[in-house]
Amino acid sequence: MHATPEPDPTPIPRSLLPRFLLIGAILLAIAAAFAYVGGWLAPHRLTPKRLIDQFQANAGVYPGYRRNHAKGVCVAGYFKSSGQAAAYSVAQVFAPGERTPVVGRFAIPGSNPYAPDGSVPIRSMALRFTQANGQQWRTGMNSMPVFPVATPQAFFAQLQAQQPDPATGKPDPKKLAAFFAAHPETAAFRAWAKTAKPSASFATESYWSLDAFEFVDAKGVRHAVRWRMAPEATDSGAAPAGQADYLDADLRQRLAQAPQRWKLLVTLANPGDPTDDATQTWPADRTTLDAGMLVIDSEQAQDSGACRDINYDPTVLPHGIAISDDPLLPARSAAYAVSYLRRTSEEAHLPGSARPSAKARPESAR
Ligand code: HEM
Repeated sequence: MHATPEPDPTPIPRSLLPRFLLIGAILLAIAAAFAYVGGWLAPHRLTPKRLIDQFQANAGVYPGYRRNHAKGVCVAGYFKSSGQAAAYSVAQVFAPGERTPVVGRFAIPGSNPYAPDGSVPIRSMALRFTQANGQQWRTGMNSMPVFPVATPQAFFAQLQAQQPDPATGKPDPKKLAAFFAAHPETAAFRAWAKTAKPSASFATESYWSLDAFEFVDAKGVRHAVRWRMAPEATDSGAAPAGQADYLDADLRQRLAQAPQRWKLLVTLANPGDPTDDATQTWPADRTTLDAGMLVIDSEQAQDSGACRDINYDPTVLPHGIAISDDPLLPARSAAYAVSYLRRTSEEAHLPGSARPSAKARPESAR
């Protein structure tokens, strides 16, 4: 018996070869795009992951906590619009008389959730406004009128310069001096920091957006703006000497007496005012609108309060507010997402989903 020979596999017709080559090229291009986005092609390119790794290199890892502004407290309240900003932005939050619920957070910058309140002169306020139409406005503001740097690259260089030297446990003064010499744009911030004192209260601080944004009016016209929250309370005494934690107790005490209020002041840029440089203030004579009143009437611990799982990404904006050309904004959005992903995935692994109590803190952090 003769075995029947196996038929030859059908050869690929020559006319199909270019198609297969094209498919191969497309797959390669997709793989290269992933590699580029993942930073594998240029390991020194600044990525959000590198920014967050640098925060961790500087201060260590505190599972479940924000990688910056780690020490804070949740608050809640509402915003009542005066209607003054409605001519410049169609956002529902600015409609005359509109009352919008707010979930917020006060904090101090830095990656250590046990840092003493007096370790930095800066306080922060983050807010999430949820409009009746479901759209949200998220903003994070700091209690200084200018940011030290204008770009994410300079911010990264600053973090690198601040990394503690293993020999001393402190940043190397030579590296810091070299950073400031290479970044003269930090001058306005440094002048502010020279006289700034840590305040005794979150309630008596002004909080600036620092980055510029755009308001979009009913005709689609864009207006460059910055905003700040100006406090009604002005009795900012000196911070209590020798105490590490006083901001939370002060806020609780004030809220037990009365809700705390801030005016939302929106400054309109003149043509030519820089919108891509948070190191520069705009001249003081610019038109400023009193857009309404923020009322904070309750506070909750950040471990269990509603702000815990909010990412105060400043690019989450309602119809009527848009980002400007400030390069810090997309970098903030990307870095906050990495921080958020890390802290919320760690959160899921903490026993009972609760954060370590004060007793369980590492000795070094007390
Ligand atoms: C490239 C520049 C910046 C980087 C990489 C950066 C990084 C971060 C990170 C990682 C967080 C924690 C986010 C989270 O886990 O939810 C954070 C929080 C915060 N940042 Fe920035 N930041 C930058 C610039 C700014 C600027 C210009 C402001 C100006 C106001 C600002 C204000 C805040 C505030 C208020 C918070 C606290 C938000 C909260 O309470 O949850 N940051 N930042």
